[in-house]
Amino acid sequence: MEATVVMGRRVGPGKTLELCLSIQCSKPRCTRLQAPAAASAAATPKSTGLINPAVCIEISLCNFSMKKKKKQQLQQKQTKKDTGVWTGLGWGKGAAAEGRRWWRRRIQAPRSKSILCSSSVSVAELSGEDGDDIANVMFEPMFEANPSDISIKRTSKITVVGVGNVGMACAQTILTQDLTDELALVDILPDKLRGEMLDLQHAAAFLPRAKIVAHTDYAITAESDICIVTAGARQREGESRLTLVERNVSFFKQIIPQLAKYSPNAILLIIANPVDALTYVSRRLSGFPTNRVIGSGTNLDSSRFRWILADRLEVNAQNVHGYIVGEHGDSSVPLWSSVNVAGVPLLQLLQNKGIHYGKHTQEEIHRMVVDGAYEVIKLKGYTSWAIGYSVASLVKSLLRDQRRIHPVSVCAKGFYGIEDEVYLSLPAELGRSGIIGILNIPLSNEETQRLQQSANALAQIQRKLDI
Ligand SMILES: NC(=O)c1ccc[n+]([C@@H]2O[C@H](COP(=O)([O-])OP(=O)(O)OC[C@H]3O[C@@H](n4cnc5c(N)ncnc54)[C@H](O)[C@@H]3O)[C@@H](O)[C@H]2O)c1
Repeated sequence: MEATVVMGRRVGPGKTLELCLSIQCSKPRCTRLQAPAAASAAATPKSTGLINPAVCIEISLCNFSMKKKKKQQLQQKQTKKDTGVWTGLGWGKGAAAEGRRWWRRRIQAPRSKSILCSSSVSVAELSGEDGDDIANVMFEPMFEANPSDISIKRTSKITVVGVGNVGMACAQTILTQDLTDELALVDILPDKLRGEMLDLQHAAAFLPRAKIVAHTDYAITAESDICIVTAGARQREGESRLTLVERNVSFFKQIIPQLAKYSPNAILLIIANPVDALTYVSRRLSGFPTNRVIGSGTNLDSSRFRWILADRLEVNAQNVHGYIVGEHGDSSVPLWSSVNVAGVPLLQLLQNKGIHYGKHTQEEIHRMVVDGAYEVIKLKGYTSWAIGYSVASLVKSLLRDQRRIHPVSVCAKGFYGIEDEVYLSLPAELGRSGIIGILNIPLSNEETQRLQQSANALAQIQRKLDI
């Protein structure tokens, strides 16, 4: 007969206890072990301690093939807990689990004086072969509770494709803001992927609880609520976002169909550049309805805009309301006519006060917004933190059904005289179903004209795409 200790815990120097929680026997018949005998039988390489000989344990294992009557007898015996006898039915995990439960009840019972259980037993000291075993010894099942091994449906799951600078900034911001129960990371670089996953997992003691998984296989993304796509080439210094398009479309042909396959009800949130063109590509490749395909668009540009104004006004940027719409890029349009500070129209107030805030100043500020990303890329090589926060803000509005207005890349057909199925940013209401509606924001004639020019520029690019 072979007996192997597969689970154990230590209870202090000189009083070490190794629990024989699962004993595998080569004989397909009932076997009975006395504790001291079990101690020697259990002295296998997996055993790290000794059974306290002061405790008499009797463990009986029996095969499912035994006759029903015999089983019933054994079940009756099982109730005799005070005698220190446990009988498990079967050889498999079920029997072992039952044995563990019996043990936990026993070692925590007041009459089990001879066993000293340290409350400081750490997970690292437990030598279970799988995670289930370790979890099982840490907690007691409640009286008449349902079995605890029911798999729990997690309430929210987010996938991030691409674990580069932007992907990881998104991941860490989402985790720190407690926006998801499960985070799935996908990339084509397995080592980088695993490294990033472990690095985040190691922060578990400082973060809200979330399951973090990572793989090159898209199967791990299954049933995601939101799929964030940051994968792709990034801009080189001085490179226009639009020159990136061909390179990134080929990546998207691999990525989007996989996401659509495993998460057919997800919202796709596109970040990779050129974000407007790639949001259009994602819609075409996924076949998802337009409300569930969103590009981060000018959400970040608008934050830059608000920050510049807030900095000049020495006020909190959250009280400065203003949108950049159109392309996330050179042809974007600042909506000066609707900029306000806590509801006070900025340009009108300045005019009333006799302060000249003319076209030149406005264009200068817009140029700072557009060049903002280029400046950061020139200085540090890439942008990450601001886009991470921008994406987390979008995720929060979507998953938590916040109904906040964000300027994001949407299908603009039918708005402001745009006739093409072109993707560009408009202020949109976001909720759990994705885009709920487009804000009917009054534009000046000039703003409408510039928006249409931006749409034409993007439509031309879209037409050239090979999808
Ligand atoms: N929308 C915005 O406001 C905004 C802001 C910043 C950056 N971006 C864009 O985000 C993208 C990512 O930037 P980054 O700095 O993180 O780049 P990065 O090079 O650091 O990371 C890209 C990651 O994508 C992975 N990848 C490449 N091809 C892949 C594929 N087929 N499948 C899965 N993973 C793949 C790479 O291995 C890499 O880990 C760029 O396109 C950049 O221009 C957008």
